[in-house]
Amino acid sequence: MQILNGKEASQAIKDSLKLEVAQLSTNGKTVPHLVAVLVGNNGASETYVAAKVKACEEVGFKSTLIHFEEEVSSLKLLDKIRDLNTDPDVDGILVQLPLPQHISAEEVINTIDPSKDVDGFHPSTVGKMVLGHPTFIPATPYGILLLLEHYKIETKGKHAVIIGRSNIVGRPMSILLSASANPGNCTVTICHSHTKNLNEFAASADILIAALGKPGFVKEDMVKQGAVVIDVGITRVLDASKKSGYSIQGDVAFEEVAPKCSFITPVPGGVGPMTIAALMKNTFKACSVKHFE
Ligand code: GUN
Repeated sequence: MQILNGKEASQAIKDSLKLEVAQLSTNGKTVPHLVAVLVGNNGASETYVAAKVKACEEVGFKSTLIHFEEEVSSLKLLDKIRDLNTDPDVDGILVQLPLPQHISAEEVINTIDPSKDVDGFHPSTVGKMVLGHPTFIPATPYGILLLLEHYKIETKGKHAVIIGRSNIVGRPMSILLSASANPGNCTVTICHSHTKNLNEFAASADILIAALGKPGFVKEDMVKQGAVVIDVGITRVLDASKKSGYSIQGDVAFEEVAPKCSFITPVPGGVGPMTIAALMKNTFKACSVKHFE
């Protein structure tokens, strides 16, 4: 069993981006600029956005964090996005989800200029991804592809089972792994809350991706001997023994599942850091397309 070390793989990606950014600076070119928009005071969202801003600093990107109060009007938020769309100094825009109830995430996503849609959530971006056209790939699925690539894991002809059908992870992952690409060329099964015999599907997976947000959901008897297991779960669970008061738990019961796997991602330190590295790559791409192609 080998651990898929997302910290290490993401560092390698960031190191390589850092060199490319340094080269841009040396040649007097503008460096990528990511704007992150955060609404309200959701603790997890604040942590994720802070990690994204920190990664920008690490690789030498410019970054701006715009933090609105929970009660901000939809109108004000959309106006800000329109400003960012037309600001030539801004390459990538991300609005951290979830948003408060009174704001439509769909409307917000639809307002982001697709050329700056580094989260890959705009319908036009999703359409291109489905068709296999060059575009931004949503950060979590992209990070998983980069991790599989980093560890040279063969995906061709494998049965990939994805648990979870969210627009952010499960659905794009199913499209990408079934695409004629490398990584890709998998036979894909997507499981969700209405799937009958979910355990049997899971146990038939060569590559099992758990993205449902239920801590410890995947147990030892749901995993085939030698499977590759990717855990996308990052649920905060109250834990008095931690200074923060909580621990982060994955969707896989790691201790019992790991011995059966050929490869497995830990939580934390698996998919999470890869998501950030993927976002950095998308931001670099947004800047490259705009300025140099
Ligand atoms: N919330 C959970 N995952 C994501 C993500 O990848 N991007 C944004 N913007 N919000 C999220």
